[in-house]
Amino acid sequence: MIVAALQFNPAFLDVHANLITLEEYLRGIEADLVVLPELCTTGYFFHDTAQLRSVAVHRDAEGLALFRDMAREHGMIVVAGFAERDGDRLYNSAATAFPDGRLEVYRKVHLFAEEKLHFTPGDGGFSVLRWGDRLRLGVMICYDWRFPEAARTLALRGAQVIAHPSNLVVAPKYWKPVMRARSFENKVFTISANRNGTEERRGDRLVFHGCSQIVAPNGTALEEVDEYFEGWLQTEISPANADEKAFSQWNDIMADRRPDTYQL
Ligand code: ACM
Repeated sequence: MIVAALQFNPAFLDVHANLITLEEYLRGIEADLVVLPELCTTGYFFHDTAQLRSVAVHRDAEGLALFRDMAREHGMIVVAGFAERDGDRLYNSAATAFPDGRLEVYRKVHLFAEEKLHFTPGDGGFSVLRWGDRLRLGVMICYDWRFPEAARTLALRGAQVIAHPSNLVVAPKYWKPVMRARSFENKVFTISANRNGTEERRGDRLVFHGCSQIVAPNGTALEEVDEYFEGWLQTEISPANADEKAFSQWNDIMADRRPDTYQL
């Protein structure tokens, strides 16, 4: 299975321009699973909730049509971060569009910094999405990386691959090794698609550090790029490799767990 992550610099609030850019990228990739960054259609550094609301879309809306259409046309799964509107509530969400037209939405559970002013925390928990016998996929967004419980819950529920759309502002020297640990400690593939570029607001500046990576269940990076790279990183994986949780005849990282001794 070919998996890919997109690193690019979305135009703040210019949904139309971002959809054109994303369509070009999606038409140029042959893969089974592609992961796009967090909030990839809108940008990130909202001035206020009204501004966010003006670009947020309902999960059934035209705003997600590109991802549904590309999944159908190209026979691939598309995971894409977007600003979701549901009634009065706004969620920092990721859509997962399947080739058969199915669309699932993960709502970010752990909100970072000022996201707490604008978004409602995700209420759906961590679910594993099945693509027939081919793949069991988990989704978490950006700051969820800080919580081992997120990746662990997905792994315990059977995820082989965790898609991780991101707008990380913390230095890559922190989050990259931690995401490798998330792969290693759960024996799963992780795909972090992190945007790059900067956004400014009334004298404040956010720098997004790119450095996207695709990590194997043994914690090694299969593909990684630097901060300035724009485009796809891609590799071939066998999701079933994530089903082997033993590392010797004595030890199996899931069977050896002792939940009776933990406080979670
Ligand atoms: C983040 O969670 N977007 C840092």
